[in-house]
Amino acid sequence: MELKDFQEKYTPQIDSYLEEHLKTEVDNPVFSKIMSYSVMAGGKRLRPLLFLSTLKTLNHEIGESELRIACGIELIHTYSLIHDDLPAMDNDDYRRGKLTSHKKWGEAEAILAGDALLPLGIQWITEGSNSAALAIIISQAVGPNGMVGGQYLDIDSTNNDSVRENAKLINQMEWLKTGCLIEASVKMAAVYAKASADELERLDKFSKEFGRSYQIYDDLVDIVETAKEAGKATHKDADEGKNNTLTLLGIDASRKELSSMIVAGKEAIAIFNEPLLGEFFNLYQKVL
Ligand code: IPE
Ligand code: IPE
Ligand code: MG
Ligand code: MG
Ligand code: MG
Repeated sequence: MELKDFQEKYTPQIDSYLEEHLKTEVDNPVFSKIMSYSVMAGGKRLRPLLFLSTLKTLNHEIGESELRIACGIELIHTYSLIHDDLPAMDNDDYRRGKLTSHKKWGEAEAILAGDALLPLGIQWITEGSNSAALAIIISQAVGPNGMVGGQYLDIDSTNNDSVRENAKLINQMEWLKTGCLIEASVKMAAVYAKASADELERLDKFSKEFGRSYQIYDDLVDIVETAKEAGKATHKDADEGKNNTLTLLGIDASRKELSSMIVAGKEAIAIFNEPLLGEFFNLYQKVL
């Protein structure tokens, strides 16, 4: 199946699941609306689609339970964006083409919406999978040794000249803040679908390449896209003193790095008949 067709089939299902269940599973209607505002603002649904595409690659059927897990991942991702945009962090006014949560509802409300989306996401993943293994994978991926650990390194390295040339730290920061959740989206599907050891290894290699390259792509989006195209402020990272792959390597070498990760990522999953996962790299065309 082509990714375009897969997206056309599942993105509307993801969207309506999120909308309906945030309405019915959050008791306070105003708080439900605040949480839903950021989740339903748009977004590529990349991580739930990755989870579902991995299931499809492994010939596992996709039904209500699988959709609940996929949407749980999106809740957690959206929490990370709401908090990333807060004045104390990246201080952004627009996200997914709309005002950020704190601009729309207030800072306390945005913090709480994020706080609520994280455990709700873990709940959906655990209930959908009925598996402690998945609960552990996701918790590790977004905790202190995963996404939040990466966000800490990001904050700690912003406007910090001692980090400028520190390739190890910049790589680690970008891997943790963005790569870990992407890796977990694939890994949860592989574990859930009971992939063989060889399949697991190949999917893991793919997700490491895709996860690491996704932040390089995002760093390039900051310099090549307009705010309108990206749905968020661009041409901003350098002014804010962000140290990232771009400041470390420059544009040309960053693009080269991205291209070699595409080759390695596609190679890892070449044995699968299903071409879906490799097509996720097509997203990068616009920054290459
Ligand atoms: C943006 O994620 C933040 C990063 C982790 C790089 P996405 O590019 O997936 O944003 P949405 O979900 O489409 O809004
Ligand atoms: C965000 O990285 C990573 C997470 C939200 C975990 P960025 O700060 O670069 O993401 P954008 O550019 O605001 O989407
Ligand atoms: Mg950030
Ligand atoms: Mg940001
Ligand atoms: Mg960015």
